[in-house]
Amino acid sequence: MIIAIDGPAAAGKGTLARRLAHDFGFAYLDTGALYRAVGLSVLRAGGDPADAAAATEASARLDLALMDDPELRTEATGGAASKVAAVPAVRANLLAFQRNFAKNPPDGKPGAVLDGRDIGTVVCPDADVKLFVTASPEERARRRTLEMEGRGEAADFEAILKDVKARDDRDMNRADAPLRPAEDALLLDTTNLAIDAVFLRAAEQVKARL
Ligand code: C5P
Repeated sequence: MIIAIDGPAAAGKGTLARRLAHDFGFAYLDTGALYRAVGLSVLRAGGDPADAAAATEASARLDLALMDDPELRTEATGGAASKVAAVPAVRANLLAFQRNFAKNPPDGKPGAVLDGRDIGTVVCPDADVKLFVTASPEERARRRTLEMEGRGEAADFEAILKDVKARDDRDMNRADAPLRPAEDALLLDTTNLAIDAVFLRAAEQVKARL
């Protein structure tokens, strides 16, 4: 069983994906963390994430230990991730790892949940369940602001909204694997929908396929 969850930044994909994985006993892969790790390693090497050669090299020798680095979650790393993600060679280098995780979930788990931007369209076009989770840019910026404040960080709503829109623009308009719903994806707009309601609708889809 492969569950593909796509959507823009801060739409609630991660929360939904983790909960589905937990409740159904499936493995979970946050594919955005792979792009973030590439972006972070370019930044740490003093490089420019928009430089295709630097990004490609970082993706070819990706250190998976970076997946647990606290700096992975910053807005700066998210911005760098969306720049390296526009480089086709970076996407190609990360593809096999993601497909292998989906087909052979770790610990012999009977299924995998992957979230990202192109899981239902490119990484796992044959996924059993495809969900596209979205919310208005303002609502996503509001959630990001609350999340950062919750961690005791300074958060400026207007600046975050600008970042959210810039990232949407880069993710939706790149030539290679742009962010868009797969034709057979169920659309879930979480702007006015509580996380429990989103989870129930998603879980119904999974149960129907089990
Ligand atoms: O989901 P998250 O915000 O962690 O993703 C960071 C960036 O990585 C996204 O803005 C996007 O550019 C890129 N990404 C991608 N394809 C994926 C997952 C993430 O291009 N499957």
